[in-house]
Amino acid sequence: MQSFNLHTSIHFGADALSRLATLEYKNVFIVADPFIVSGGLIKNVTKYLDAAGAKYTIYSDVAPDPSVEKVGAGVTALLRDKAPCIITVGGGSAIDLTKCIRQFANQIEPTYFPYFIAVPTTSGTGSEVTAFAVITDTEKNVKHAIVDNKLLPEEAILDVEMVKSIPAGITADTGMDVLTHAIEAYVSTNATAFSDIYSKKAAQVCKDYLISSYNYEFTRDVIPREKMHFASNLAGVAFNAASLGLNHGMAHQLGAQFHIPHGRANAILLPTVISYNTGIESHTMSLVNPAPCVHKYAKLARYIGVGSYNDIASVKTLINYIDELRIQMKVPRCIREAAPTITKDEYMCKVEAMAEAAINDRCTPTNPRVPKKQEVVDMFEKIF
Ligand SMILES: NC(=O)c1ccc[n+]([C@@H]2O[C@H](COP(=O)([O-])OP(=O)(O)OC[C@H]3O[C@@H](n4cnc5c(N)ncnc54)[C@H](O)[C@@H]3O)[C@@H](O)[C@H]2O)c1
Ligand SMILES: [Zn+2]
Repeated sequence: MQSFNLHTSIHFGADALSRLATLEYKNVFIVADPFIVSGGLIKNVTKYLDAAGAKYTIYSDVAPDPSVEKVGAGVTALLRDKAPCIITVGGGSAIDLTKCIRQFANQIEPTYFPYFIAVPTTSGTGSEVTAFAVITDTEKNVKHAIVDNKLLPEEAILDVEMVKSIPAGITADTGMDVLTHAIEAYVSTNATAFSDIYSKKAAQVCKDYLISSYNYEFTRDVIPREKMHFASNLAGVAFNAASLGLNHGMAHQLGAQFHIPHGRANAILLPTVISYNTGIESHTMSLVNPAPCVHKYAKLARYIGVGSYNDIASVKTLINYIDELRIQMKVPRCIREAAPTITKDEYMCKVEAMAEAAINDRCTPTNPRVPKKQEVVDMFEKIF
């Protein structure tokens, strides 16, 4: 038996944040990304809480890639406040932090489990609809993906007003994260007819709108920004059901060891991991026993309009298309470009440990090809 569940109510479209004007809770603990507070975007949220007559505390001790320490500090602050409702306003880092804060506060005080509304301000992780949270152990330099349905927010609000300020570089990184979620969920060993619908739609929107969303600073066209905000959520629904794969298992290590932003790490890896999963390189003309995922990658490529005359050619054009996206959006294509201060020796001496951790990552078991440690080592070396 298989199941497909949607837990989170999603509010979207023009003025979606006005949902907060009818909030039934009169005391709210807001967890917000510091940029959202300093840049004034938080007012888009608080004006509706004011209208609803709700009191609120704003907690903004949030940093990219939330650490175990930040979770501890947040749990203390939340248990001091004891608000019946939490609203998180930020990217995947703020949302994941809040998920863990609520979860661990509940473990300390089992009767306390506040209602949780997520307002994403990046279009990337889809964390507002996933049972995943990624926490960094800064002592061991390891990112842990926690998976638990209790992490799921009760509501998500997708309002384009919250994503207009995202700079082009972060739009590129987070957009590549959306595309990676869509592709990995689609070829996952847990993919189903239900998750595939979300994966395909999310990938299609990336194809149609990611570059124009990236160019927002010049065009001021909000439609691509809104489409990518929805795509992030759709891809979140897809991978919440189907999970991800080795690309994410490896990207988590690059984030933990070298602080490469999550979406950028995925973008660096994506062509290499597709090539590994399918066994298709640029010179491949035929395969004796193509893995089932070859057909699936090819189907997705054709669906979004970057396919070719047969499956092998379609996988190659998909890889070329991803590379073209990286070039157009100036996304680094290797570690040397992404982190020029890291020396080759420094990187190579971490590769064995990263390969081990990538194989043990919660995202890797649903990869369409079961990776051997040496194969992962080779891929980490290749992307340097
Ligand atoms: N839980 C999940 O399902 C899931 C899935 C994928 C990734 N993740 C995790 O999410 C984290 C990455 O999240 P992210 O990519 O959303 O980035 P992020 O939350 O770390 O934010 C990146 C940067 O963007 C800034 N920012 C956020 N909103 C902005 C806005 N509206 N305008 C301008 N700047 C803004 C932040 O201040 C920050 O500097 C990683 O830790 C990753 O491992 C979680
Ligand atoms: Zn991701």
